[in-house]
Amino acid sequence: MNIVVVGGNGLVGRNVVRRLRAKGHEVSAASRASGVDIVTGEGLAQALEGAEVVVDVSNSSVLTGEAPCEFFKAAIANLLQAEAAAGVRHHVSLSVVGTERLDDSPYFRGKAFQEACIRASGIPFTVLHATQFFEFLLDIVEVSVYDQALRLAPAYIQPVASADVAACLAELALRPALNGVIEMAGPEREPMSEIIQRFLIQIEAPYEVVTDALAPYFGARLASDSLLPGTDAHLCAMDFGAWLNQSEYWGASW
Ligand SMILES: NC(=O)c1ccc[n+]([C@@H]2O[C@H](COP(=O)([O-])OP(=O)(O)OC[C@H]3O[C@@H](n4cnc5c(N)ncnc54)[C@H](OP(=O)(O)O)[C@@H]3O)[C@@H](O)[C@H]2O)c1
Repeated sequence: MNIVVVGGNGLVGRNVVRRLRAKGHEVSAASRASGVDIVTGEGLAQALEGAEVVVDVSNSSVLTGEAPCEFFKAAIANLLQAEAAAGVRHHVSLSVVGTERLDDSPYFRGKAFQEACIRASGIPFTVLHATQFFEFLLDIVEVSVYDQALRLAPAYIQPVASADVAACLAELALRPALNGVIEMAGPEREPMSEIIQRFLIQIEAPYEVVTDALAPYFGARLASDSLLPGTDAHLCAMDFGAWLNQSEYWGASW
């Protein structure tokens, strides 16, 4: 099968590319690094020539402020238009569990807009909603830290290994389109403030966690279950401890 992975150089994307190539498919990674810019449309038509399936795992390089919303709006319009012109038969997209509940956040407004465009496009689609990647805990630290302290909500999160998400996407890309959304998550749920506290201790980062129910998460106020999957979600086996033991963050110097 001819498959284009948009954002194929990113954390999830490179793992999806590797898995699909290992199964013998013709796979290309499209991103600015390969001359394809989905915000401007540059190189997109050429990149999608002959593509049967597109897996979109692109992401805004800026996660805060209005930038991610602008990114997702511009990118999805260009991408779906180019896919329709190229005759793509299946659009597979990665989004986030709880997207529809986090409208105060420009990031999640952008993701919700992306999903609405996919549904309206007429192109057969599958959307995978994943919970936060274990790797993303570090991004949460980076956007929340101020003066050696982090204000974090005690809302529950149920993080998952990005490698498990990539494996699921690679399978979905080879199956018929679901024309719907499925959810996946890790095996354990825990208040965000507590798992990040544990993470900081494990990696010996010198930050203090302050639990604050009003602390925003990428601009959104969180209810205790805002980021949790539904009861039908597929749960992966790798837990935080197992992931941390094999991660590159172990023993990093801060
Ligand atoms: N992080 C989480 O916990 C989490 C959880 C659930 C779902 N997700 C979703 O997973 C997806 C992928 O996340 P990730 O962490 O793998 O992202 P990532 O590592 O930041 O990779 C993003 C990719 O997008 C490409 N990209 C950025 N701007 C582009 C542009 N203008 N044109 C073309 N390509 C562009 C980047 O390549 P270049 O720099 O070469 O352009 C890169 O390959 C996102 O949609 C996110 O919403 C994330």
